[in-house]
Amino acid sequence: MPDHLPRRQVLRTAGALGLGAAAAGALTSTAQAGTDAARTGSATGTPDRLTGMRGHHGKLEITKAPFGTTPDGQQVDVYTFTNGRVTISMLTWGATIQRVETPDRRGRTTNISLGFDNLPDYAALSPYFGATIGRYGNRIAKGRFTLDGTTYQIPVNNGENALHGGTIGFDKLVWKAKVVQSDKAVGVAFTYVSPDGEMGFPGELTSTVTYTLDRRDNLRIDYHATVAGKPTIVNLTNHVYFNLLGEGNGTIYDHVLELNAPKYTPVDATLIPTGEIAPVAGTPFDFSRPTAIGKRLRGDHQQLIFGRGYDHNFVIGGEPDEDGLRLAGRFWEPEHGRTIEVLTDQPGVQFYSGNFLDGTFLGIGNKAYRQGDAFAFETQHFPDSPNHANFPSTVLRPGETYKSTTVYSFGTK
Ligand code: GLA
Repeated sequence: MPDHLPRRQVLRTAGALGLGAAAAGALTSTAQAGTDAARTGSATGTPDRLTGMRGHHGKLEITKAPFGTTPDGQQVDVYTFTNGRVTISMLTWGATIQRVETPDRRGRTTNISLGFDNLPDYAALSPYFGATIGRYGNRIAKGRFTLDGTTYQIPVNNGENALHGGTIGFDKLVWKAKVVQSDKAVGVAFTYVSPDGEMGFPGELTSTVTYTLDRRDNLRIDYHATVAGKPTIVNLTNHVYFNLLGEGNGTIYDHVLELNAPKYTPVDATLIPTGEIAPVAGTPFDFSRPTAIGKRLRGDHQQLIFGRGYDHNFVIGGEPDEDGLRLAGRFWEPEHGRTIEVLTDQPGVQFYSGNFLDGTFLGIGNKAYRQGDAFAFETQHFPDSPNHANFPSTVLRPGETYKSTTVYSFGTK
């Protein structure tokens, strides 16, 4: 390995991390749903089965194993849950999606999300791979905003701006985890209490983000937060990076994208929205008809130059369904046929074409991630909303509840 590449750690939790759909399926179901949910991972790193249920459409199971220990001695666990077709691994570090294994149209299963196999790489290198992002997803100009007459300063970590909650966002903290399960879905509820003043944000914020996989291959994320003491601003999202060819298997430029977004929010050279809400029609930002991501990506549009590709908030269109959700976008990888549909109740989505991946480190499959090797699709309020009165508000006051839902629906075509 060349000297400039960080040395990757030895796989310390092989039992947990090698757990693909097949291995998970090999853990026989006992139909004792929930009875051993309190068990913890064994010292050897062998995953313990926490729940098992057999059903018509697939078997819902969840296991837990140790993943690593932070320098200050906190244990980090990996939870792996499956419906027998789709298998998802999540870490208590950053409430992070570590792996997403889905079948292609011929039934061959692979991991389609970027990540690492060890905690030190997450802590040192991760550009938010799979992480739950908070307290404020995306950028706040110069890290500054004013709320009820008081100006707050978030430590800047992206040029002159604050990105994804400042220098130590929710992605770099250990969350508490609780298994959740029903006869329809299985997953984990992650909770983190952010003290008043953490990263400069006012008010004590209690966030619970629940990730569940159902029998129909939907990964549902339910965000819930309340604030005590002072009003604050909140914009939670998840930063999973997908490559539907499989993690490390090339670029996403031939993935076909259809966006339900008639408008987007153009940015300045530091990727802060100008405040304009512009129509996509006639620009490379128009994905109202299914279009390959790479088709216009390297064109001369000023916004693509600023973003080094797509790194923009799109304004979701249309009316919500009976669950309050709207389709934000659909991705399709034509060669092997995997699809993802994303539904959300959020007003916007940051579509990021992996522009800053630069090949300087190796991921979970021991391959370097280069520019365009994945996309992120972060459902959220608009970037820098606290500094734009014309954007939907991100203020949360004591007594109010922040609630939001996003669904990633996996399929093939
Ligand atoms: C978001 C930002 C990008 C980039 C990624 C993380 O998508 O908009 O500019 O910082 O997070 O690398």
